[in-house]
Amino acid sequence: MSQQRSEANSGVGRNWYRRLQAEYVPWLDCETLIRSRLAFGRRSLARVVLSNLTKTYAGGVTALDGLSLDIADGEFLVLVGPSGCGKSTALKMIAGLEEITAGEVSIADEVVNDLDARDRDIAMVFQSYALYPHMTVFDNIAFSLQIAKRPKKEIATRVAEVARILQLKDYLKRRPGNLSGGQRQRVAMGRAIIRQPSVFLMDEPLSNLDAKLRVQMRSEIAQIQRRLKVTTIYVTHDQVEAMTMGDRVALLRDGVLQQVDTPTNIYNKPANTFVASFIGSPSMNIFRGQLEGGLERCVLVLGKNRLEVPSSIFTGRPALAAKIGGEIIVGIRPEDMEYAALVPDHPREQRLVAPVLITESLGSDQMVHFALDAPAAKVADQDSLDEIIVAEGITSICIARFGARSTAEVGQTVEVAVACDRLHFFDAASGLAI
Ligand SMILES: Nc1ncnc2c1ncn2[C@@H]1O[C@H](COP(=O)(O)OP(=O)(O)OP(=O)(O)O)[C@@H](O)[C@H]1O
Ligand SMILES: [Mg+2]
Repeated sequence: MSQQRSEANSGVGRNWYRRLQAEYVPWLDCETLIRSRLAFGRRSLARVVLSNLTKTYAGGVTALDGLSLDIADGEFLVLVGPSGCGKSTALKMIAGLEEITAGEVSIADEVVNDLDARDRDIAMVFQSYALYPHMTVFDNIAFSLQIAKRPKKEIATRVAEVARILQLKDYLKRRPGNLSGGQRQRVAMGRAIIRQPSVFLMDEPLSNLDAKLRVQMRSEIAQIQRRLKVTTIYVTHDQVEAMTMGDRVALLRDGVLQQVDTPTNIYNKPANTFVASFIGSPSMNIFRGQLEGGLERCVLVLGKNRLEVPSSIFTGRPALAAKIGGEIIVGIRPEDMEYAALVPDHPREQRLVAPVLITESLGSDQMVHFALDAPAAKVADQDSLDEIIVAEGITSICIARFGARSTAEVGQTVEVAVACDRLHFFDAASGLAI
């Protein structure tokens, strides 16, 4: 199987090699050039397909339940979800480090379920960098090539290229102990990159870094991936990383895929209340309410507040009209609310009136927590909020992002302008988007 795969795998490379040799530059060492995707742009073949991937650990925990994903060659896919949702398990099964209970993993159009980890042409980067402390940065990066007994000259060239990409040129003689966290992280990346794998698997590689470095490294990793165009599956529980790095984001909950889409679509069209509340910071506010009236003039009732919803919200949502007269779950993103005094032309019928509980000035804007007497739809981990709610006898808390010129203060009852054309609606029973 291994041989079959490597033949299939090198199809494009071989053709290119022959053409180069025959027609263009027969005097060059084409083999070395083809191998050096870093210098030449890589051959491309590594679509990764997961079909109904399932893992049940001994003891009966089903960590992953029928995960199906089709990851295009060169794509950067982020696997995100809360702790324990099965992200690392999925990655380990793709890598060949964990036995597959059911389903299939295919890489480059070949099922690799029974293929050894080392024959899968993948490189993994973990949270713990696992660098060799007694070796220099050069040797750490070069290690896999040294083990494979590649010629010294080739090793030197490839390490130099990797060091250039990762801006590690000045550190090649140092040992990991004398590097910063970010530099160590880049060495770990270098060890993966130098192998020129078809697929990168990264499991929370940035979680050991401080906040500032994490922001810097996440854009560096995204840039490197885009330059190398190596299919990458990146695991994180940080929704900001997911949104900023991935071509697409796959969100898991309790081992079950909730949605896979581009960051923009996941944010604007969450498939259910879980996705809606997981993606975005602060989270989408999600309440139970009722729709009253008719298609022409429809009102959303949220406790004592009534918001007139424009008829445009029914466009493309045929199921929504059927919910008029019944209970519904409604979602409002913090940025879709504004301190009404800052938008005097906003329709009166599209404002909430509510007491301010907390204000947080962020300089660029003001976060305002206010009480709403519509029941919150419980969707994610909201324990901390629940404590406040129970203690104060409040039905639910709504968080709005007001402009910096807002003068809302704790204790005031304020008017909140709501962009009602941007409301999200979900089925009250299933939590699925309407
Ligand atoms: N070797 C194991 N034996 C039994 N159960 C396991 C084993 N490894 C993981 N699990 C369980 O499988 C589930 C998924 O674990 P996994 O490590 O994939 O989660 P994760 O999404 O990577 O979480 P985190 O963000 O905390 O790393 C968890 O409930 C975990 O307790
Ligand atoms: Mg994990």
